[in-house]
Parts: sequence; C-alpha cells; structure tokens
Amino acid sequence: GAPSGLAGRRVLISAGGTREPIDPVRFIGNRSSGRQGYALAATALARGAEVVLVSANVGLPDPAGADVRRVGSAQELREAVLAERAKADVIVMAAAVADFRPVSSAEGKIKKTGAGPAPIELVENPDILLEISGERARAGQVVVGFAAETDHVLEYGRAKLARKGCDLLVVNQVGGGRAFGTEDNQAMVLGADGSATEIPNGPKEDLADRVWDLVEPRLAPGHTD
Ligand code: C5P
Repeated sequence: GAPSGLAGRRVLISAGGTREPIDPVRFIGNRSSGRQGYALAATALARGAEVVLVSANVGLPDPAGADVRRVGSAQELREAVLAERAKADVIVMAAAVADFRPVSSAEGKIKKTGAGPAPIELVENPDILLEISGERARAGQVVVGFAAETDHVLEYGRAKLARKGCDLLVVNQVGGGRAFGTEDNQAMVLGADGSATEIPNGPKEDLADRVWDLVEPRLAPGHTD
C-alpha cells in the first residue's frame, strides 16, 4: 500500500538567518540560531523523509543523513529554494530571511572618514515564501511558513497566512527571551483551512514533531513503489 506519513517523502527545509552584506567584513543579520529548522530536519529524517536542508549561517552539526546546502544571503537562500522546490512534497520555510538588504555591498571595507557615518541604503528582498505558496505551489505540495510576532499573535498570524498563501503558518511569540536563540519554543499553528493548534512550550524537537503531525494528513496520497 501507499507509504504512510513522511516516509519516502522529499522535504525541503530552510533554517538559520540570512546575512546581508554591507562590505566584505560586515553584514545585517538576525538572532536566528537555526535550531528550529535543524530540529525539523532531524525529526523528518527520523520519520523516513529525504531532507534537503538549506542552511543560512548556522553553527550546528549537520543532521545525519540530510543533504545540506549552505547559503549566506537572502538572495542565495532564494536561489537554493527555487532550485529544489519542484522535487519537494513539503517545503518548510523556517529560516529568518532578512526583509531588507543593502542596495550594494561596498567592494572594500568602509572606513571612518571623520565626516560621520554614511547612511546604508536598503532595498526589499523578494518574499520567497510568497513566491512558492498557494497557486505557485506544485499540486499536492504542502508549504509551511514560520512567523515571529511580539504581539497580537493570532490576528497578525491569520493575516500573514492569508497574505502569503501557505498551507500552515507556525506563529511564535517572540520577545522577552522567547524563541530566538533558546532551546525551547512554543507556537500556534494556523491552517489555511481555518484550524488553529496550540503547541505548548517545550523542546524544538517536540514542536517539530507536532508540525509534522499537522503536515502528514495534508500530504497528497503517496506513490506505491
Ligand atoms: O513576513 P515575515 O518575514 O514575518 O514572514 C516569515 C516567513 O516568511 C518565514 O517562513 C520566512 O522564512 C519567510 N520569508 C521569506 N522571504 C522573505 C521574508 C520571509 O520566505 N523575504
């Protein structure tokens, strides 16, 4: 019969946080450790999935068995995701992708001139999740986004889910030391079908397992080889 759950499925996960270069030695970054994305990779592998892990600036050991693609900036992460997306049964965008990047990266290290700091001009990065969700997803593909909100978690989460068009949105409440860079995570998982599932505070592996529990019933029926 058809394989159950994630066994034999191709899963594409982005993890970590992008770095947007200012000059050869400086960047605009964020506090994502990559732990949640790596926990998603490890738990998917444990369920028998084939995992491609697009990893942005993560200082963690590679999950055994994952096909790890290292990227730096949002543009590199986008290229890697777009190259792999067609093969994936599930895509989970757990990476913290910078919303903005410097218009250009200076060729040499920016020097103090005595005239005060030069402004850094920013442009918006493409929204990768938006690009791969909804009508742009392959038939039967399940696309999962993450969102970090400091307040109005449900209201902002619903609006973000609708705007991005993904199937599931995992909304973390951040601020006050929660989520970023910590071992534990708690979340509300919102579904495009109107569902809302609260995941209590606990290890990121537990949250990852609950996310897979919600993904599995949404998968298209598996092939039978
Ligand atoms: O809009 P916001 O950044 O809060 O959305 C977060 C979700 O969107 C995450 O899943 C993140 O990986 C994804 N994202 C993206 N491309 C961006 C910004 C965010 O794919 N430029």
